[in-house]
Amino acid sequence: MSTKKIAVLTSGGDAPGMNAALRAVVRAGISYGMEVYGVRRGYNGLLNGDMFLMNLRSVSDIIHRGGTFLYTARSPEFNTPEGVKKAADKCRAMGIDGVVVIGGDGSFRGARDLTNAGIPCIGVPGTIDNDIACTEYTVGFDTAMNTAMEMIDRLRDTTESHDRCSVVEVMGRRCGDIALQTGIAVGATAILVPEVPYDFERDVIQRMKFTQVTGKKHFIIIVAEGVGGVDELAKNIQAQTGIESRATVLGHVQRGGSPTLRDRVMASRMGDHAVQLLEKGIGNRVVAFRESKVVDFDITEALDMKRVFDKELYDMALRISI
Ligand code: F6P
Repeated sequence: MSTKKIAVLTSGGDAPGMNAALRAVVRAGISYGMEVYGVRRGYNGLLNGDMFLMNLRSVSDIIHRGGTFLYTARSPEFNTPEGVKKAADKCRAMGIDGVVVIGGDGSFRGARDLTNAGIPCIGVPGTIDNDIACTEYTVGFDTAMNTAMEMIDRLRDTTESHDRCSVVEVMGRRCGDIALQTGIAVGATAILVPEVPYDFERDVIQRMKFTQVTGKKHFIIIVAEGVGGVDELAKNIQAQTGIESRATVLGHVQRGGSPTLRDRVMASRMGDHAVQLLEKGIGNRVVAFRESKVVDFDITEALDMKRVFDKELYDMALRISI
């Protein structure tokens, strides 16, 4: 039997831990006797044949590095039926038997299309947003939250020194998980997420006034990117309460930096699992983390799943942030 050839790429927004996942895919693949190709700049690299054979040392000294050493991209050309066919033809021409795609929902749609075009693909969830319904965890989430927490701790120093209110936007696209977890971790007075509609007077102003009566003089309000409008919120808070308010958007700083232990280990486990599936000749699956186990789902079923926001945790956060 000829040697199995697999390729690996990172697609969409980079996330800390992607390098650890790449390392796992390369090392597990070689352990199974496969040839592993690294594809540069996501699906664009497949379209252009921009890939190279990797060896064990190709992924040395990257487990602790943020970003993705294969680079990443969002590829409009690949998002067309012609683009998918071109990429599949390129894979066939290069003898690629399967592809591991590390990215988010959008990248998995591409992996499903490429599988349907004859190239079995496995998705590994890599995004800071934790917004993929089939999995309780996505690689990069822990690092991004810890970075956000550290930044907000710094903000607190200056917010407290001036008796001010800081309104802070954290990333997450349409998902409020980063906001919820960091909001709890920094002791925010209010946490606004897209999953829970809010009333400005009741959920921000009254909460601030209530804590003010019991002696609180500075405030942190965490706002998920999916809610947005932090400048406006800060202005309105100042107008209604008289408390000097400032808006801060943490932005892409949350996507960088050395991955935490949790991200390195999760990335390693998920990358290895993806290769095990390809080794068995299985494609069209997304690797997921559920109930402390690494499992996998059919990509189409995974994409149809609805995300469930942890409302109990949100209510808990409200109970203790008074
Ligand atoms: O998906 C990761 C993420 O950082 C989101 O939180 C954010 O909405 C988006 O990517 C930003 O995308 P870009 O890097 O293209 O500005």
